[in-house]
Amino acid sequence: MKTILLGQNKIPVPAIIQGTMRFDRLTTKEVAAMFNNDLENGTNFVDTANCYGKPEGLVESIIGKTFAENPGLRDKLILQSKGGITFYPDGRPYHNYSKEHLLKTLEASLSRLQTDHLDYFLLHRVDALFRPEEVAEAFEIMKRDGKVLHFGVSNDVPYGIELLQKYCSVPIEINQMQFSIAHADMCVQPIATNNHDFYAVDRDCGVLNYCRLKDITIQAWSPFQYGFIDGVFIDNPKYQEVNDAMQKVADKYGVNKTTIAIAWILRHPADMQVVCGTTRIDRFNDCCKACDIELTYEDWYNIYLAAGYPIM
Ligand SMILES: NC(=O)c1ccc[n+]([C@@H]2O[C@H](COP(=O)([O-])OP(=O)(O)OC[C@H]3O[C@@H](n4cnc5c(N)ncnc54)[C@H](OP(=O)(O)O)[C@@H]3O)[C@@H](O)[C@H]2O)c1
Repeated sequence: MKTILLGQNKIPVPAIIQGTMRFDRLTTKEVAAMFNNDLENGTNFVDTANCYGKPEGLVESIIGKTFAENPGLRDKLILQSKGGITFYPDGRPYHNYSKEHLLKTLEASLSRLQTDHLDYFLLHRVDALFRPEEVAEAFEIMKRDGKVLHFGVSNDVPYGIELLQKYCSVPIEINQMQFSIAHADMCVQPIATNNHDFYAVDRDCGVLNYCRLKDITIQAWSPFQYGFIDGVFIDNPKYQEVNDAMQKVADKYGVNKTTIAIAWILRHPADMQVVCGTTRIDRFNDCCKACDIELTYEDWYNIYLAAGYPIM
């Protein structure tokens, strides 16, 4: 397992994270098997959120029951959850980063997860009404009470993070962002800048280089999805050209395309972690194999070009 040094504190953590957004389809026995398999692969980092599964908290509850049935398992893991997305009674989501709501969300997550603390707590999606002073107060209370050890954000842009950090005494160590071969705008935009090209439009205010500059670790979510979690691009006829390019590189290293999709992200020098959401042990093992290979410049750009991204 590749280790990366997370955030400004440079804490060694595994490059591959077990995502749990789709764990509502698993039994507690199957979740325990996934977590034990993660550990055998050398990764102990688990990502979840209050909003995974329906009703709210379902996935956290399944994970908590898994911990209760398997004493000692929680302590072997680095447990990360996210908050800030909430729901109307009819199921429509909205965002709430108020101090009161964040503290209440954390308590509910800890109770469902049957643990006394989270290792990492992330703000999930930007709240238009957020007041950084309030978030800072909430984070400080969580930290003071020993209920959260480290903090981060998700889907946030540089000035949002700067604004929050201005008031927070705790460092923002993580920004979780969607990133994959089929969703690579974050690293394509700087290449296309200064041109009349679709990819020249800066939609994230240079978040990739900003995070590198500030030693904020990017966690790449949905490494196999295109669009906004619209589906998998591997073996998808809409993505034939990039699948062909990935297959060639996969043959070269004696692995499959699942491994190459992760190796492509790990090859980026930003030293990202990758949040893999498969619910299958064999597929998770393929993800971990990516740590054993390093793509060459030629491999990486062949896949980049086949995905339709510009070179100027
Ligand atoms: N911060 C955010 O806003 C945010 C948003 C979304 C997700 N996340 C996090 O990121 C994690 C990953 O997201 P995700 O589940 O959308 O992403 P993913 O890892 O890209 O997709 C996993 C899904 O793709 C399927 N799949 C089909 N073929 C596959 C293949 N060849 N290799 C791998 N998977 C294949 C998997 O099915 P099987 O299960 O049958 O393998 C699973 O349903 C989530 O679990 C969550 O922790 C964060």
